[in-house]
Amino acid sequence: MRNRPHIPALTATLVLFLIVGCGGASDSEQATPDQAGDQSSLTADQIENGIGPAVEVNLGPIDEAMAAKGEAIFTSKCAACHKMDKRYVGPPLADVTKRRSARFIMNMMLNPDQMIREHPTGKEMFATYMTPMPSQNLTEEDARHLLEYLRTQVPVVE
Ligand code: HEC
Repeated sequence: MRNRPHIPALTATLVLFLIVGCGGASDSEQATPDQAGDQSSLTADQIENGIGPAVEVNLGPIDEAMAAKGEAIFTSKCAACHKMDKRYVGPPLADVTKRRSARFIMNMMLNPDQMIREHPTGKEMFATYMTPMPSQNLTEEDARHLLEYLRTQVPVVE
């Protein structure tokens, strides 16, 4: 009686994992049981795309008007800590759209507190930069405009 396994809970977890697994990440990017540890409470989708409100981002050709709005927000709210081509208070961002998924980037902008507390990549960055990125109270639209601006950046190839 005491040790009855939680079959419904296990089944629900498995089903969720399968649903998320079909959501776009390729097989190699999914969390495997080997990666358990403190990531085990995150879904494969969260590992790939971050934790937060950005659940869908549609990328087309660069929209210059959106990028211009993003640049203005960047100058007022982000440039104090981020440079494009080198480390500053936070990581360089010119190549961030090559390194991270669009949703990861938007979730980092919209939900930095939880990202650096609970996401393995966020925790790693916090350990490296040792400053918590503060929430800038962006709307999802602001974050989308910032993402568009970041997409216009061409990383310096070393
Ligand atoms: C007070 C400094 C500060 C401000 C202001 C700030 N950030 Fe950050 N940001 C950081 C730090 C530090 C990190 C690394 C994670 C950590 O330690 O919190 C980071 C991480 C990031 C990342 C993840 C980078 C990667 O390599 O995955 C993105 C994207 C980002 N910031 C975008 C922005 C944008 C866009 C703004 C403006 C809306 C902004 N940040 C404002 C300090 C800041």
